[in-house]
Amino acid sequence: MSMALIVLAAGKGTRMKSDSPKVLHRIAQAPMLWHALRAGQALEPVRTVVVAGHGAEAVEASALDYDPEIRVVIQSDQLGTGHAVRQAEPALQGFEGDAIVLYGDTPFLSEETLAAMQAARQTHDVVVLGFEAADPGRYGRLKMAGDQLDAIVEFKDASEEERAITLCNSGVMAMDAGRMMALLAKVSNDNAAGEYYLTDLVGLARAEGLTATAVVCDEAETMGINSRPELAAAERAFQTRARAALLENGVALPAPETVHLAWDTVIGRDTEIEPNVVFGPGVTVESGARIRAFSHLEGCHVSRGAVVGPYARLRPGAELAEDVHVGNFVEIKNAVLHEGAKANHLTYIGDAEVGEKTNIGAGTITCNYDGVFKHRSVIGRNAFIGSNTMLVAPVSVGDGAMTASGSVVTEDVPPGALAVARARQVNKDGLATKLFRMLRARKDKEAGKA
Ligand code: UD1
Ligand code: CA
Repeated sequence: MSMALIVLAAGKGTRMKSDSPKVLHRIAQAPMLWHALRAGQALEPVRTVVVAGHGAEAVEASALDYDPEIRVVIQSDQLGTGHAVRQAEPALQGFEGDAIVLYGDTPFLSEETLAAMQAARQTHDVVVLGFEAADPGRYGRLKMAGDQLDAIVEFKDASEEERAITLCNSGVMAMDAGRMMALLAKVSNDNAAGEYYLTDLVGLARAEGLTATAVVCDEAETMGINSRPELAAAERAFQTRARAALLENGVALPAPETVHLAWDTVIGRDTEIEPNVVFGPGVTVESGARIRAFSHLEGCHVSRGAVVGPYARLRPGAELAEDVHVGNFVEIKNAVLHEGAKANHLTYIGDAEVGEKTNIGAGTITCNYDGVFKHRSVIGRNAFIGSNTMLVAPVSVGDGAMTASGSVVTEDVPPGALAVARARQVNKDGLATKLFRMLRARKDKEAGKA
């Protein structure tokens, strides 16, 4: 069965008290919209439609950033969830199969739950995702008769008896796309909210003799985010789960609660992550590496056996091969360090390549930026870059070459050569003693005056 995702993301999110649209607020460093889209990927949709409204331009840009194939439709006025889903109709032209509606502000649906919904579609025409609410509050209520779902009734329209139901509507719904659109055309806004309710589809489907049921998931999965405290709670929930998953997969985390993970962090087994490490988006760490305390990594790859930190910073495009060592106060950006290369102290390597087993001395800087353009430094294998070398890019240092410490290297260094690029040292005999005497005499004189 082909699947299409319809992700509702037009709402304003007034309670966020923010200038940006709600679905662009970030959890684990990705917009919550991306979490919802990723959850939906479990169904391998052949088409994805995002319904945008408030902040549509930014929402569209973010959706396309996630996947350029996504179709974004605009709901100019937020007239209800049913109205929102109807806006997807033109984007579903030519599609045949099931449509599943998700909310952009409900980021944590699991693969298993969506698979269970898909399975339930084998036996029922409409499948709704429900949950037993600890506090049913203002959620829509699911009216069940055995395994048949008769109707969803919105809180505002519910009788006292219906409000006593604790099985609530998550908002996720699946059915044949053509049928969904046909039924949506029949939804009216004659209700307490004056909105076009998506939830009315259930009653309408039943009235036409179709079947409906509910799949029930854990309440934590359908957690919707409406305010900053809820966003913070979602972040905590994500971190707790992601850390637990790493531990489960054999990653060593002696202080898991101090390690911050991004939505897409990948870490191999037997890798150790010491306390207070922060992962930005796009990091993969292979097995058996060690990320030492207080390091910050984003958009980088760390291979087996590599050691990073303490206090290291790996920025986008940092690629560390096996057994590379990157030590304290070292920053690496858009650079490849080949197998066994070492940069152990106080160094900046940007837009560069460092060959196998090359040693970068303390205080080395690739001067990669001239104020307008970025330039590359290419260092060969088994080279030795002396402490406090400035490599003024574009520049290359050949295999097995050395640079004298304190050198400002502006010209390519041939393989095997030693580059000395600093003023020659001169020793003036006795001059220090003389200078000290002069200075102390001046100090005594000034003290006498005071
Ligand atoms: C909806 C459900 C309710 C369910 C609850 C779960 C309806 C009528 N009610 O209520 O049964 O228990 O979700 O959280 O469907 N949206 C649009 N355009 C609109 C209206 C909403 O894109 O015109 C989007 C919102 O941005 C949000 C989602 O749809 O992501 C849900 O809208 P919201 O207003 O929060 O629905 P509820 O009233 O909470
Ligand atoms: Ca809501």
